Amino acid sequence: MQTSVAIIGAGPAGLLLGHILHQAGVPFVILERQSREYVLGRIRAGVLEQGSVDIVTELGLDANLRARGLEHGGIYLQYEGERRHIDFRELVGRTVTVYGQQALVTDMLAEHERIGSTIVFEAADAAPHGFDGGDPVVVYTHEGVVHELHCEFIVGADGYHGVCRPSIPAAQLHVLERGYPFGWLGILADVPPSTDDLIYALHPDGFAMHSMRSLQVSRLYLQVDPDESIDDWSDARIWEALQTRLGVPGWTLTEGAITEKSITPMRSFVTSTLASGRLFLVGDAGHIVPPTGAKGLNSAIADVALLGRAILEHRAGDDAPLAGYSDRALSRQWKVQHFSQWMTEMLHVHREVPDASARAFRYRSQVGQLEYVTESVAARQSLAEQYAGLPF
Ligand code: FAD
Ligand code: DHB
Repeated sequence: MQTSVAIIGAGPAGLLLGHILHQAGVPFVILERQSREYVLGRIRAGVLEQGSVDIVTELGLDANLRARGLEHGGIYLQYEGERRHIDFRELVGRTVTVYGQQALVTDMLAEHERIGSTIVFEAADAAPHGFDGGDPVVVYTHEGVVHELHCEFIVGADGYHGVCRPSIPAAQLHVLERGYPFGWLGILADVPPSTDDLIYALHPDGFAMHSMRSLQVSRLYLQVDPDESIDDWSDARIWEALQTRLGVPGWTLTEGAITEKSITPMRSFVTSTLASGRLFLVGDAGHIVPPTGAKGLNSAIADVALLGRAILEHRAGDDAPLAGYSDRALSRQWKVQHFSQWMTEMLHVHREVPDASARAFRYRSQVGQLEYVTESVAARQSLAEQYAGLPF
């Protein structure tokens, strides 16, 4: 098979790039290791920056997003029983939209199916070759038959556990990363949200967050230790912890049936390059952030917007944007890495620190930080600017 752009991975990054290429009439094929049902069933991120919404809109993929997305003009930061609003509209004139990654993936896949895109699900053992020369090819197996997909460019949209990043010669790529002594226990519950805007709370027991997926479905998170088992968290224990950590006087957290629960570890990770010859990495294949601040999905969308534009400019005869893709995307990504790390450190409790005085010192300085961020216009504005999304 022959195409122009071979995209490995049908997550949000791969599907979105397909739509950008389709709109410009550039042929592409998407190879996905998992089944269609698996891809549609993955529950992950929920907050779209305004720039992400704009791209989805420009591509005409926004009908359901407009109908069901929940626009938010701010967030709440909570500490020591105080809940303070950060008003993005007033501070930076921008908003974010709560719309589940799962819903976005469903919309993009439906549109691909309508326009007749080639997406090969259950494509096994995909391997990129020849991207350092003039004949890039992806070899993969489908229904027991080995195929070769020849192309001009290969795009690794295959997430953190994908095959593209490890295919780049070790001498060209190094990785910078850090772990955190925290995990997130996330639930979906069939209950209307008890809040108008998302709540991020620091509590002596650990971080808690109240988000949502719709006017009927709430999404909530609790900081847990990274090696904890979900089996140790009964529904009753989860609600009790949420009530304790999110509670403020005069406010009620309404409980409902938990329909999904899981624990996710947290890490920060960035590769030194997102390009090797004619192979380009986008999204989680090239970088991971801890989830506090909701930047994972939005970073994937920003990469794809930059790379999509660069591929189109290459076809129009200008190679400079493609040559500069990795540097531009990583320059933005390092700012996003800093923001995600900053939000994470401000809001999580270092329960693993053995010395009680050192632990208390850290906690008290986090409260000081939250007081500063909520009291200072300059600090609120900086948070709002980054949360609503840096330009790309
Ligand atoms: P992915 O969504 O990982 O998609 C990669 C695709 O490539 C997958 O479909 C995979 O099956 C496919 N693939 C992998 N290897 C191969 C291969 N060898 N051949 C073919 N296909 C392959 N972000 C937030 O902002 N907020 C959150 O609350 C949040 N929660 C998360 C919870 C979990 C459990 C995880 C794992 C991530 C979460 N994220 C969150 C991060 C966010 O979901 C990701 O940043 C986003 O999915 C990145 O999109 P992507 O397309 O780059 O990668
Ligand atoms: C959600 C996830 C986040 O990481 C975040 O900062 C805000 C919201 C969510 O899943 O809704």
